[in-house]
Amino acid sequence: MDILNKLKSHREEEERLKWEGTFAEYLDIVKQQPEVAQTAHSRVYNMIKSAGITEKDGVKSYNFFGEEIFGLEDAMEKLVEEYLHPAAKRLDVKKRILLLMGPVSGGKSTIVTLLKRGLENYTRTDEGAVYAIKGCPMHEDPLHLIPNHLRDDFYEEYGIKIEGSLSPLNTMRLETEYNGRIEDVMVERIFFSEDKRVGIGTFSPSDPKSQDIADLTGSIDFSTIAEYGSESDPRAYRFDGELNKANRGMMEFQEMLKCDEKFLWHLLSLTQEGNFKAGRFALISADELIVAHTNEAEYRTFISNKKNEALHSRIIVMPIPYNLKVSDEERIYKKMIRQSDMKDIHIAPHALKVAAIFSVLTRLKKPKKQGIDLIKKMRLYDGENIEDGNKINVDELKNEFPDEGLTGIDPRYVINRISSAIIRKEVKSINALDVLRSLKEGLDQHPSITQEDKEEYLNYIAVARKEYDEIAKKEVQKAFVYSYEESAKTLMDNYLDNVEAYCNNNKLKDPLTGEEMSPNEKLMRSIEEQIGISENAKKAFREEILIRISVFARKGKKFDYNSHQRLKEAIQKKLFADLKDVVKITTTSKTPDESQLKKINEVIARLIDEHGYNSVSANELLQYVGSLLNR
Ligand SMILES: Nc1ncnc2c1ncn2[C@@H]1O[C@H](COP(=O)(O)OP(=O)(O)OP(=O)(O)O)[C@@H](O)[C@H]1O
Ligand SMILES: [Mg+2]
Repeated sequence: MDILNKLKSHREEEERLKWEGTFAEYLDIVKQQPEVAQTAHSRVYNMIKSAGITEKDGVKSYNFFGEEIFGLEDAMEKLVEEYLHPAAKRLDVKKRILLLMGPVSGGKSTIVTLLKRGLENYTRTDEGAVYAIKGCPMHEDPLHLIPNHLRDDFYEEYGIKIEGSLSPLNTMRLETEYNGRIEDVMVERIFFSEDKRVGIGTFSPSDPKSQDIADLTGSIDFSTIAEYGSESDPRAYRFDGELNKANRGMMEFQEMLKCDEKFLWHLLSLTQEGNFKAGRFALISADELIVAHTNEAEYRTFISNKKNEALHSRIIVMPIPYNLKVSDEERIYKKMIRQSDMKDIHIAPHALKVAAIFSVLTRLKKPKKQGIDLIKKMRLYDGENIEDGNKINVDELKNEFPDEGLTGIDPRYVINRISSAIIRKEVKSINALDVLRSLKEGLDQHPSITQEDKEEYLNYIAVARKEYDEIAKKEVQKAFVYSYEESAKTLMDNYLDNVEAYCNNNKLKDPLTGEEMSPNEKLMRSIEEQIGISENAKKAFREEILIRISVFARKGKKFDYNSHQRLKEAIQKKLFADLKDVVKITTTSKTPDESQLKKINEVIARLIDEHGYNSVSANELLQYVGSLLNR
């Protein structure tokens, strides 16, 4: 029933938004709401801007792309600020075709689709409203009705510049239907819709030899020639090409560089002049954003051809690289799985993360900077804090390779491998190892991976596997300790008390008896040894920690478990070392006794309740960690 109500209110809403009136009435609207007369580029820009901007950790991201596009903040900022913004101000870039260039399945089509769907919705809002001459197949801008010699006066009064001239069809209609009375011409509000071919067009090349420009600009309607008597009567022409239909909005040009160059020439001169020639008519003005996409190889071939030089200058290339952040990559997979038929499959925690680690590693270039390896770079890119003597600037690393992210493993490959891993297992549950195995096996079938790449990629799979081993051990450890954070915190507080006493040459008080005691050297060392701090280095390490604590105190910040990466690591390792034997015995015993069995069940329950496992993946995890510990 609910859906019927929704349908009804949707219909009512569509009715409510409708408007139609004379040109004179339309001018009233323009006066009150000048934005209805904005150009297509400006409308797209304002649509993106009006969705707002979120700033997180100094990174600006447009909410418009937020739910669908992850990790491409830099590329999106470039797209908006270097293309759309100046184009919205009617600067010259507006006349160029926007070419999104990037590797396969890197999100190009997704971006274009977002823009299209966005416009469909935006034209249903007040700020995004669009009006057109009623009955015009190209939804022509009503302001084109204002004759050239009056446009300066119009600008004086309304502050709006009019570009483009009235189309041959509407020129004729003005005479025949309205007796030249411009103010009577009927205007209507239009709503973009790709399905209905209003304001949004898509063009994809067919056979280059037979491609007909009519697909873009429309063609003679032979059935009506007889009626109107001549091919040059605009009423005998069907303005139903993609360029016609996309007028006022945007046109997607798929696989543009696959088109014959003669064809491209034709098209590009159209966009350059803001008008195009169709049939035997005067030029037809068009106002639309043309977005094309292509991959790098195709683009390189295209520009390496001298003949294309002039074309090249009429295109603005926006690189759309792969995302390079592990956490965003995970979000991409989650999204793709949600949209696929795999959404009911149980995917064990960290399975997507290890796949993301692998993919991102294949995309990164080895840093030139000293003292930093690929894995550190990966962490830095993902916004992790890395304790390191010298502060490493992420931008500096990015600038080493401005074209990073144009190669490597694509998200679709990963999703395909995940689904083939699922098919192979009887239960509908897969874990990180299943995913890594499947990624590895698929490398042979991947069409664009060379033997050389393959060796490197196998190495990255091993790296991802190692990362997983650490994560898995930690996870099991956490599940074994009833309250992990609590234990870690207690151990750390205890350590810090001792360090403080040690550095200040003080005694500690026993909390129970009140007795004075010397700092517990054995305890401190057992923690420090976990991260390889030698007897000689211990003093410096302890002092460094105290300094850090006082720096925190001075800034009014609380020093806690997460404030010092290496100390945190030491504490975790220590807790784990203490637990190791318990875990080892419990998880690998072939014939667990009653108390072991109870413990295992408790741990499994905790993994399921608190960590997102199901019983299959929890058991698999325990088995795996058991085997790791027995190595
Ligand atoms: N950065 C990203 N953020 C969110 N999703 C992404 C990202 N990159 C890729 N995807 C997802 O990957 C899939 C493929 O993306 P899409 O089809 O947009 O790529 P494309 O660049 O058009 O590829 P192709 O060159 O093969 O046409 C989509 O499901 C898309 O949502
Ligand atoms: Mg695509």
